[in-house]
Amino acid sequence: MQALLDLVRDVPDFPRPGIMFKDITPLLADAAAFAACIDALCEPWRGRDIGAVCGIESRGFIFGAAMARALGAGFVPLRKAGKLPPPVVGVDYGLEYGLDRLEIGTHAVAPGEKAVIVDDVLATGGTLEAARRLVERLGAEVVGASVAIELAGLNGRARWPGHVPLHVLIQS
Ligand code: PRP
Ligand code: MG
Repeated sequence: MQALLDLVRDVPDFPRPGIMFKDITPLLADAAAFAACIDALCEPWRGRDIGAVCGIESRGFIFGAAMARALGAGFVPLRKAGKLPPPVVGVDYGLEYGLDRLEIGTHAVAPGEKAVIVDDVLATGGTLEAARRLVERLGAEVVGASVAIELAGLNGRARWPGHVPLHVLIQS
């Protein structure tokens, strides 16, 4: 996993002063590293009858779609406001840099369906927690989340319920 971290570029003060941006594009561009990353993100969920991999716009789409294919699950996009056609349900949440809103198609997951939530980075935890609430609002069972990089210093995992598995590849 350390080799994967070496392919993530730290960009200070982007997109706002004081924010350390994690640029994952070198990792995505490395075929072996990207494959290893997808395999590792899927590892806890194999054989678990996952029906939906829910990827968070936008960087969560990249990992989530590849995971859905690997797990034989469907892919469900959790999108920013106004991107999905109605009917949708949405949730507002606070981000490390501003306010945002996530939406899901009302019929995108079925009640009782097992879902995994995916994103690239866990920072303050607001995004991941909003995603969990959104998917649960439709009655699906969130069996856990996979995140490539956790910014451990921000303690975002404190916002995630302790009884729901949170799978992280790299702490930074
Ligand atoms: C970044 C990152 C996570 C989120 C983590 O996304 O990709 O989704 O922030 O932050 P949090 O834990 O503090 O909520 P961003 O909203 O910047 O958009 P992007 O994925 O479209 O680049
Ligand atoms: Mg994001």
